[in-house]
Amino acid sequence: MDLVQYREGKVEVLVPNPEESWKSADVPVFFNPRAARVNRDVSVLVLSVLRPKDVLDGMTASGIRGVRYFVESSVPEVYFNDLNGDALELARRNADKYGVMGTFFNEDFNVLCHTKRFWAVDLDPFGSPAPFVWSAARAVRSGGYLLVSATDTRPLSGASPKQALAKYGTILRKPEWYPELMARVLYFLVFHAAAIHGKGIEPVLAFAYEHHVRVIARLREKPSLITKNAKQIGFYEVDGKQYGPIWAGPLQDHDVAGEALERWDSDYSKASRKILELAAVEPDVVGYYNVHFWAEKLKLKQIPKFDSVLNALREQGYVAERVLWSDKGIKTDADEETFAEVLRRAAKD
Ligand SMILES: C[S@@+](CC[C@H](N)C(=O)[O-])C[C@H]1O[C@@H](n2cnc3c(N)ncnc32)[C@H](O)[C@@H]1O
Repeated sequence: MDLVQYREGKVEVLVPNPEESWKSADVPVFFNPRAARVNRDVSVLVLSVLRPKDVLDGMTASGIRGVRYFVESSVPEVYFNDLNGDALELARRNADKYGVMGTFFNEDFNVLCHTKRFWAVDLDPFGSPAPFVWSAARAVRSGGYLLVSATDTRPLSGASPKQALAKYGTILRKPEWYPELMARVLYFLVFHAAAIHGKGIEPVLAFAYEHHVRVIARLREKPSLITKNAKQIGFYEVDGKQYGPIWAGPLQDHDVAGEALERWDSDYSKASRKILELAAVEPDVVGYYNVHFWAEKLKLKQIPKFDSVLNALREQGYVAERVLWSDKGIKTDADEETFAEVLRRAAKD
C-alpha cells in the first residue's frame, strides 16, 4: 500500500495516498481527504463538548477518526473496528503513535454491536447507513451518542423515491430545501431504530457537506422521550401534496453547537466553522426558502440581497437566518405569501 503522512486537525497519521484512496471503494484502505475531513472536523469538535467515556469508531478504515477523538476530543478510550484487516493494521499503527487507549476489532459492524455497549457509536459507511443503524442504536448506552453518516444523497433527498421508500420507509419528493431533508430522513431512521430498542432521541447536530450528510443524537432509555419523539414525526408539502414521514423536530442543540464553535481554531476547516456558526442559531422550522428558486418563480429581474431580505423579515417580527444547508437558503417562520412580498420589495431596492 502506498502510504503517506497526512496532517488533519491536530494529528499527523499515515493514510493511503489521498490521490487514489477516495475515488472508489475498491482500494486496500479507504481514505477521503475532502468532504470527509469536514465531517470529521465537526464530529471531533462536537465530541470534545459531549465528552463520552468511550467511542466505537465502528468503520474506522485508517483509524484517523478514532485517533482524533482521543487526541482532540479527549475521549479516554477508543474502540476501533473494520471488516478489512489491512485497515485495522493501519489503524493500530496510527493509534500506537499517539498512545491511544485502544481496543481493536476485525468484525462485521452489526455483529460487534450485538455483543457490546458503548457511550458513543460512530457509524460511517459507504452509502447508506440503513443496514447498520438498528444494531448501532442497540449498542449505544442510555445517555450516550450515535453519530451517523450517509452518502446516498439521491434517495435521501427525494430524487429516487422508490429507493427512499425501500431504504428509509418514507415517501419523499424533492423539495427546494432537499439538503436539509436528507438530515430529517436520517433522524427519522435513527428515531425508529432507537425506539425499537426502547430509546428516545435528542438531536445534537445535523449537517451536510458535499455528498456527506451527518446526524448526531443522544439516546435515552426513557419511554416519555419516545412518546415526545413520536409527536416530532411529521410531513411536509410540495405543490399542495403531503410527503413523509420525516423528523419534524429540532435538528440542532444550539448550545452544543455554540460550545463546539468556541473550540474551533485554524487547524480545522473553514467549512466546519461555518457549519457550527449556523447550527448555533438555526431556527427550529422545517425547510427553508431557496432565494434563487423564488426569484425565478416570481420572475424577479435580480436576486435580492440576502441581508435586505433577512432584515425585512426580522423587522416584521419573524425569525430569519441563513442556513448551513445551502448558500441560497433562508430559514424563517414567515409564510410563502409574506416571503414572496418581502422578496419583491427587496428586489426593487
Ligand atoms: C467510508 S469508510 C470509513 C471511513 C473512515 N471512518 C474515515 O473517517 O476515514 C467505510 C469503512 O467501512 C468498512 N466496512 C464496510 N462494511 C463493513 C462492515 N459490515 N463492518 C465493518 N466494517 C465495514 C470498510 O472496510 C471501510 O474501511
